[in-house]
Amino acid sequence: MKIESYHKLEQDSSSFNVLLKRSNNYKKHQSDEFLSLPQDTIPNLLIGDVFDALKKIPDKSISVIVTSPPYWNLRDYGSDEQIGSEKKPEEYVKKMVNIGNELIRILKDDGAYFLNIGDTYVNQNLQMIPQRVAIGMQNNGWLLRNQLIWYKPDHMPSPVKSRFKNTYEPIFFFTKNDWEKKIYFDLDAIRIPHKTKQIELNLSKKDYKGKFDGNENNVGASPGGRISITGENYITKRKIKTTQPIICDYLRFWRDKNNFTNKDIVNFLGADYKHTVGHWFRKDAGGSYPSIDDWIKLKSLLRFDDKYDFEMTETEEVLQQINYHPKGKNPGDILKINTAKSNFKHFAIFPEKIPEIAIKACCPKDGIILDPFAGSGTTGLVAKRLNKKSILIDIQPDFSKIMEERIGEIKVVSI
Ligand SMILES: C[S@@+](CC[C@H](N)C(=O)[O-])C[C@H]1O[C@@H](n2cnc3c(N)ncnc32)[C@H](O)[C@@H]1O
Repeated sequence: MKIESYHKLEQDSSSFNVLLKRSNNYKKHQSDEFLSLPQDTIPNLLIGDVFDALKKIPDKSISVIVTSPPYWNLRDYGSDEQIGSEKKPEEYVKKMVNIGNELIRILKDDGAYFLNIGDTYVNQNLQMIPQRVAIGMQNNGWLLRNQLIWYKPDHMPSPVKSRFKNTYEPIFFFTKNDWEKKIYFDLDAIRIPHKTKQIELNLSKKDYKGKFDGNENNVGASPGGRISITGENYITKRKIKTTQPIICDYLRFWRDKNNFTNKDIVNFLGADYKHTVGHWFRKDAGGSYPSIDDWIKLKSLLRFDDKYDFEMTETEEVLQQINYHPKGKNPGDILKINTAKSNFKHFAIFPEKIPEIAIKACCPKDGIILDPFAGSGTTGLVAKRLNKKSILIDIQPDFSKIMEERIGEIKVVSI
C-alpha cells in the first residue's frame, strides 16, 4: 500500500479500509536518527517545531500522549512556525490531522492520545474545529473512544446576549486499537467515590417503603423508579438449581420415550411455539429452560415424573440491587475542572487534572508520556509527580525556564 493511494482511501469508511489506512500510518519512519528515550523521570525537552521533533521519536515508544495545542487564531506564542496562526481553519485542521499521523506511528499499540482543543467563532459562526480535527483523525485510522467535556465551573464571564455562553472544551480520547483488551485502561485508578451510601442489602420485601408501598399489584411495575427512590428492587426468579443441559437431557429422554419429534410438540402446543420448542432441546448457548406454563403443558404431553417440577415451577422474590463498586464510580465523560491559575508568563496553561487523569488511566508502570505542545510543562510536572518518564516538545525556547521553575531539573535534548 503506497502513500499516494491514501487520499482515495479517505473517501471510504469501511472498516477494512480503516485498517489499511492504519497500517499505512504505522509505516516505519525513515529516520535513522532517533533520540534515546528517557531512562528516568526527569522530563526530556525537545525544543523545536513539533513535526521535526516527532521525527526523532522511535516507533511505538510512547504510552500516553496528552496535549493542548495552540487553538486556531487565538494567541501569539512568538514563533514564526507556530501552529494556530494559519489563515483558514481548514489549514489548521490539516496540520493537526497530519500531526496525528506522526503520533500514531510513535504511540504503542495499547497507548492513548488525549487531545484538548478549543473552538473559535468566525462571524458569529462556531467553526467546529475540534470536531473537524477529530473526524480527520478518525479517517486516518484513529479510534475515538470518548469526547470528554471539560466543563469549567470558573469559566470566563461572557457578555454575549444572543447565544449561550461557552463553558466547556472538548478533550478527545483516541486509541490505535479497537479491541478493548488491547488498550491499557486502568479504570480503578480514576474512579471517584460515591456521594451516597449504599443501601443495606438485607432488606426483605415487607420492608419496602417505596411509592408502591401497600400496592402489591404494582410490585415490579417500575423497578427503575423504585430503585432510584429506595435503592431496592425485587425480581421474581425460579428456584432452578439444575443446569440447562441436564434439563435438556431429561426432556429429550421423555420426548423420545413418547416417540415424539420436536415438530409433534409444536403441533401440540400451537404454531406460536415454532421457534421456541427447539431451544428446550439444545444444550449449546441457544438452549433455554421452558417457562413455568410451558413446563406444565409439556408435562401433560410427555407425562414425565416430578423430579424437576419443584425447581421448574416454584418462584421466589429476589432482591436486586445495583451494587456500588467498592473503589468508586467511573467518572463519566463530563469532567468538572477549574481552569489553571498561574503567575507564569505563559497564557494557556491547562489544569494539572487533565494530564493526571490521562496518565493515571492510560500509562502503565514503565510507560513514557509525551506532550508535543508542552508550553509551561504541566504534563511533565504531573508525569514526574506520578513517577513517570516524559518527553516534552515546544517551539519556544524561552518556555524551558518556566518549565525548570515549575518542575525542577529538565533535560534539554537538541534535535
Ligand atoms: C496551549 S500551549 C500549551 C500549554 C500547556 N498545556 C501548559 O499547560 O502549559 C501551546 C504550546 O504550543 C507551542 N507551539 C506552537 N506551535 C508549535 C510548533 N509548531 N511546534 C511545537 N510547539 C508549538 C507554543 O509555544 C505553546 O507553548
